[in-house]
Amino acid sequence: MGREMLEIISPVEGGIYVDATVGLGGHSEMLLGKIGQTGKVVGIDRDDNALARTAERLVDSRLILKKGSFSDMETILHSQGIDVADGVLLDLGVSMMQLKDLDRGFSFNSKERLDMRMDSSQELSAWDVVNGYSERELVRILKEYGEEYRAVKIVRSIIHDRNKKSIDTCTELAEIISRAIGRTGKVHPATKTFQALRIEVNKELDELKKGLDASLRILRIGGRLCVISYHSLEDRVVKHFIKERAKADIVKQLLKKPLAPAIDEIRANPSSRSAKLRGAEKL
Ligand SMILES: C[S@@+](CC[C@H](N)C(=O)[O-])C[C@H]1O[C@@H](n2cnc3c(N)ncnc32)[C@H](O)[C@@H]1O
Repeated sequence: MGREMLEIISPVEGGIYVDATVGLGGHSEMLLGKIGQTGKVVGIDRDDNALARTAERLVDSRLILKKGSFSDMETILHSQGIDVADGVLLDLGVSMMQLKDLDRGFSFNSKERLDMRMDSSQELSAWDVVNGYSERELVRILKEYGEEYRAVKIVRSIIHDRNKKSIDTCTELAEIISRAIGRTGKVHPATKTFQALRIEVNKELDELKKGLDASLRILRIGGRLCVISYHSLEDRVVKHFIKERAKADIVKQLLKKPLAPAIDEIRANPSSRSAKLRGAEKL
């Protein structure tokens, strides 16, 4: 949703922009194209691989790449002598690179160890959650973060199997879930559980709330915030955040309804179909 992102952020020559989820730098590259010689883009990501690949691909003195969580964006920006930004972009979730890299253990097709850490230096992994959390905690996570109404059935199967031997790989877990709730339709029965585990491992909703607050603090008056989310849990947080601040005259809501990707983008990249883009301007 690059075109729509540019419309919301409205980058200008000499502006300072924060791409708080730089990934492979697609959006940063678009911003760099609009900010002239004196502008700057600070690209943040908690994934070392993504940063290394972007650093190799985009060699540009106007782009500063920093490892970290976007909840820490103020500290990261202050360390670069930046106190205010003209625009902040949050393009949430995991990248295709992370999902397709089977070693990272995000996908139920991966024969590798359950992992799902965006930041590989973090301690907590999906293996720890699946093998270490109590039955009650697992049910809560699957219900809250996966909106999985069959949570109890799935978790009972997990507990039954892990009492015999630890559940080590993504495919092992996917098979346990398939056996517990059966396979119907096109969507893999483990989809919701995997989403829930990923959100728990990376504390994604907590990060999002803190990241939104930090974005508003760092934006100058008139600065723009653009958020692209990929599932309803994230979008709900963003929607309420903007609505509440708009009511309090802290921001102006830039779109009545979120933007969805154009048909040609969905055709080229089917995983973009659930994307929703929202925008706000700081008052
Ligand atoms: C959807 S991808 C972004 C793709 C990027 N816009 C591009 O053009 O390539 C999301 C990225 O955000 C990163 N990410 C997710 N949550 C994060 C957080 N709390 N702090 C920093 N990076 C995060 C992920 O590691 C991933 O690389």
